[in-house]
Amino acid sequence: MLSENLLQKLNEQVTREFYASNLYLQMSAWCNHNGLNGSAKFLRDHAADEMSHMHKIFAYIQDTGALALIDTIEKPEINFANIQDIFNKTYKHEKMITAKINELVDIALNEKDFSTFNFLQWYVAEQHEEEKLFKSILDKIEIIGLDGRGLFMIDREIGNISIH
Ligand code: FEO
Repeated sequence: MLSENLLQKLNEQVTREFYASNLYLQMSAWCNHNGLNGSAKFLRDHAADEMSHMHKIFAYIQDTGALALIDTIEKPEINFANIQDIFNKTYKHEKMITAKINELVDIALNEKDFSTFNFLQWYVAEQHEEEKLFKSILDKIEIIGLDGRGLFMIDREIGNISIH
C-alpha cells in the first residue's frame, strides 16, 4: 500500500508526465509550422512516449488500490527562437524530471516501499537514456550549426532518430 506522501508525489509525477507530453507536442507543432518536419516527427513521437510514461504511473497507482488523480495541466510554452532553443529546453526539462524521479526513489527507499522502489527503476533507466538522447541532439546542433544547409541537415538527422 502506498503512503499518503508517496501517493501524492506519484500523482504529481502523473501531472508532470502529462505536461511533458503537451510541451513536446507543442514544440512539434512549432517545428511543423517552421518547415522542420524531421524535428516535428521526433517531438511528436516523444510526446506519445511521455503520455505512455504518464499511463504507466497512473496504472501503478491504481494497482496499489489507491486513487490516481489528474491535476490541472499548465499551458505549455508556445514561442521558441529556433531548434537549439527547443532542444536546450527539452534537455533542461528532462534533467528536472530526473531530479523528481530520484526524489521519488529516495522516498520509496526511506519508507521501505520496495515495490514502488522496484517500479521506479524503469524510470531511472529511462531518464538516463533520455538525458543522453537530448544531449546528443544538442551536441549535433553545436557541431553542424544552424546556418545555411546546417539546419536542413540537423532536421533530417533528428527525424531519423528512432526513440522506440
Ligand atoms: Fe517521461 Fe522524458 O521523461
